[in-house]
Amino acid sequence: MSSSNRTVVRGGLVVTAADELHADVLIEDGRVAALAAHGSEAAAGWTAGNVIDATGRYVLPGGVDVHTHMELPFGGTFASDTFETGTRAAAWGGTTTIVDFAVQTQGHALREGLDQWHAKADAKCAIDYAFHMIVSDVNDATLKEMDLLVEEGITSFKLFMAYPGVFYSDDGQILRAMQRGADNGALTMIHAENGIAIDVLVQQALDAGRTDPRHHGEVRKVLLEAEATHRAIQLARVAGAPLYVVHVSAAEAVAELAAARDKNLPVFGETCPQYLFLSTDNLAEPDFEGAKYVCSTPLRPREHQAALWRGLRTDDLQVVSTDHCPFCFNGQKELGRGDFSKIPNGMPGVEHRMDLLHQAVLDGHISRRRWIDIACATPARMFGLYPKKGTIAPGSDADIVLYDPTAEQTLSVETHHMNVDYSAYEGKHVTGRVETVLSRGHTVIDRREYTGHAGHGQYTPRGTCQFLA
Ligand code: URP
Ligand code: ZN
Ligand code: ZN
Ligand code: ZN
Repeated sequence: MSSSNRTVVRGGLVVTAADELHADVLIEDGRVAALAAHGSEAAAGWTAGNVIDATGRYVLPGGVDVHTHMELPFGGTFASDTFETGTRAAAWGGTTTIVDFAVQTQGHALREGLDQWHAKADAKCAIDYAFHMIVSDVNDATLKEMDLLVEEGITSFKLFMAYPGVFYSDDGQILRAMQRGADNGALTMIHAENGIAIDVLVQQALDAGRTDPRHHGEVRKVLLEAEATHRAIQLARVAGAPLYVVHVSAAEAVAELAAARDKNLPVFGETCPQYLFLSTDNLAEPDFEGAKYVCSTPLRPREHQAALWRGLRTDDLQVVSTDHCPFCFNGQKELGRGDFSKIPNGMPGVEHRMDLLHQAVLDGHISRRRWIDIACATPARMFGLYPKKGTIAPGSDADIVLYDPTAEQTLSVETHHMNVDYSAYEGKHVTGRVETVLSRGHTVIDRREYTGHAGHGQYTPRGTCQFLA
């Protein structure tokens, strides 16, 4: 093999979910070929056209963000990151794979939604990408289509207990989709909030003149997240199906997941940086600034954060994704001035997940390996991408991040790369920064310079959940 298609990453600390190794990494034809201890005979023998000095750096698997919404239509507008801008920002933040949600609209086939998402994403992405499917219309035809999509590598389907009239499914529809998942191996993802009850509270709040962004958090009650989480678990048990609860925000919802897992049920949960680092204090910011933090499930009082961190440590929560769904403050969030229910739901974050979780390592919330577990390895396993993605091992894609654990940075709209006019973390100081990013051996970020291109990212069909026997 000529040395020209080989890269060696020398001198770094390789951190995976399982190990920390002082090792050099040999890359051949876009894949990891071997690891060997610094200075070992094996490593000394490697010649390569490209040698990357990783001294003083962590060498990490690229981040796997399994919950993004590029260009999502919502509330009469579209999420402001395209697949081009959003995946570029992801790369800047050390994420090398996203799993976005293709959307079935009511009255249409799953396939139509999937085709639309391919049209948005194909030839546009800077990093590799895959799709889940949002199911908005459970019927006989949809259920049959699910089997076909699983065969093709769309192995997870999101259903909503929230948003009546938009994405909402009733319990019978959810049960039917779960039964199908029990048969065809798909993982059912649930947005667990009691949307019917929430809509009553929304109307009552608006009628009483409570129209500010903070009321978004007040009507979307913790009890209605916990109740929906409990109901989703029971429906999954009845169906004999596995369940993945998305964007868990409340301590009481974590308790429901923990109780289910104590019964050895195949129940999984994710949370997101916004629930770990932000709170209802942000939603209450004056002059409509709170709209920047409107997402569902909503931000919670700060007291909930301890339960989320504990859940991540005890494995009652397995994944941190971003639910990246940006809307500009000007022109988009503003649609809900005077009526919080018209604020498009969602927050930007795809660029900051790896850094915020590294800060959590420094703050003592999680270990360094758990950081890589919840941000890379477990999301890849959960959604059938491992070990191609999520680790650094012979045969894995060479999706590799050189991370400087001592660099200091301040998160800001002035410096981020997401296509949105504010930062949810404006002014937040974090230690640690992505320096260089490889995607299948190609340099996408080279010492803080973007060297990637739209269309480098490949569509990646997935296997089924790797936590199920
Ligand atoms: O507020 C959010 N999370 N927007 C995106 C859609 C969803 O429910 O995940
Ligand atoms: Zn959701
Ligand atoms: Zn989402
Ligand atoms: Zn390329």
